[in-house]
Amino acid sequence: MKIAVYPGSFDPVTLGHMDVIERAAALFDRVYVCAMANGGKNPMFTAEQRFELLRAAVGKLDNVTAESWTGLLADYAREKGARWLVKGVRSATDFDAEYGMAQINRGLDAQLDTVLIPARPELLHVSSTMAREMIKYRQPLALCMPEAAIRVMKGWDTDGKS
Ligand code: PNS
Repeated sequence: MKIAVYPGSFDPVTLGHMDVIERAAALFDRVYVCAMANGGKNPMFTAEQRFELLRAAVGKLDNVTAESWTGLLADYAREKGARWLVKGVRSATDFDAEYGMAQINRGLDAQLDTVLIPARPELLHVSSTMAREMIKYRQPLALCMPEAAIRVMKGWDTDGKS
């Protein structure tokens, strides 16, 4: 069984993430999409909120499970029996960062390889940064976030942290 982990901040999950998730779901038998902490970022949404949005977004995909994790990615992958990490790349800058992280993760676990999935051109401009700006300025979210996640967010009484 080919098991992969797609880790990220997912602050919040976007249509770009969904494209990567769906393509990973077609490549692997099971995909764990996991909301994690990025030490270099101060998120808009709490870990629980990021997970809730992610869970709603992947709800209809049979072989995809949403989770959250506060520890090391390599430990999480080992716990899941995953030999592959999936990351989406939109630019050469993304590639450089992901290349470095792939080496770190492989250094932590020699069994762990990273598969990079290039963004579709029509989704290149979609990012969590864009989604956060749209939320902050109360703009329509359908162009950057999955419907199911938008519905969950509408049930909250704040735009970000509660
Ligand atoms: O969506 P992001 O912010 O680019 O995701 C980065 C993330 C969360 C995947 C990365 O920060 C991460 O792996 N965090 C978990 C802690 C860890 O294992 N760090 C070492 C790997 S570089």
